[in-house]
Amino acid sequence: MINLAVLVSGSGTNLQAIIDSIESGKLNARIKIVISNNSDAYAIERAKKHHIPVFIIQDNRFPVREDCDKHLVEILKSHAVDLVILAGFMRLLSRAFIRAFPMKIMNIHPALLPAFPGLRAQKKAVEYGVKFSGCTVHFVDEGVDTGPVIIQAVAPVYDDDTEETLAQRILKEEHRIYPQAIQFFAQGRIEIRGRKVIIKNQPKTEGVLENPKVEI
Ligand code: GAR
Repeated sequence: MINLAVLVSGSGTNLQAIIDSIESGKLNARIKIVISNNSDAYAIERAKKHHIPVFIIQDNRFPVREDCDKHLVEILKSHAVDLVILAGFMRLLSRAFIRAFPMKIMNIHPALLPAFPGLRAQKKAVEYGVKFSGCTVHFVDEGVDTGPVIIQAVAPVYDDDTEETLAQRILKEEHRIYPQAIQFFAQGRIEIRGRKVIIKNQPKTEGVLENPKVEI
């Protein structure tokens, strides 16, 4: 059983997917604390409903981000957190924070990295005209969305998609792959070799996808 901290800023549907996976016994973890940098985040309600302690970051208490992050590290260490989960956490973490948890911070990004890093990835995918996008769970390093990739899921992009319709389609896949990535970690099945994340005892994914369909 591993101890998680989940960092959120918004609606918290990924947090909910993780909670549900734990409660249904699919994920061997416990959430020790939820941390939000937004006191209005609906994710806070979700945590409270499940009796998970919540800490709200008040940036005005710490004018220097590094000081705030040092405080966060202390909180996480005092809760014996094994893995830090960024679930729609829209605030950059300082180098000191990232170095305190080397390859022990996961993030989910709503695109197939390295395509469309940064903000509004779904909008970028629609505007670019790609036929597939998706989501990526990766370890966090000191770059923006650049860390080693753990698992990805692919979603088609249709001609009539908007940022919102694509975001919804991708979000469904996020809710499947994030608990799985955490469970790989909990099972001790993750090995990192340079940029590559190897999942031990994992059957190969078969088949290819195309969009639009090949008809000939
Ligand atoms: C998710 O789509 C997640 O991939 C994205 O924010 C959303 C949070 O939704 N994260 C990023 O864009 C990080 N760069 P949620 O609050 O419902 O889990």
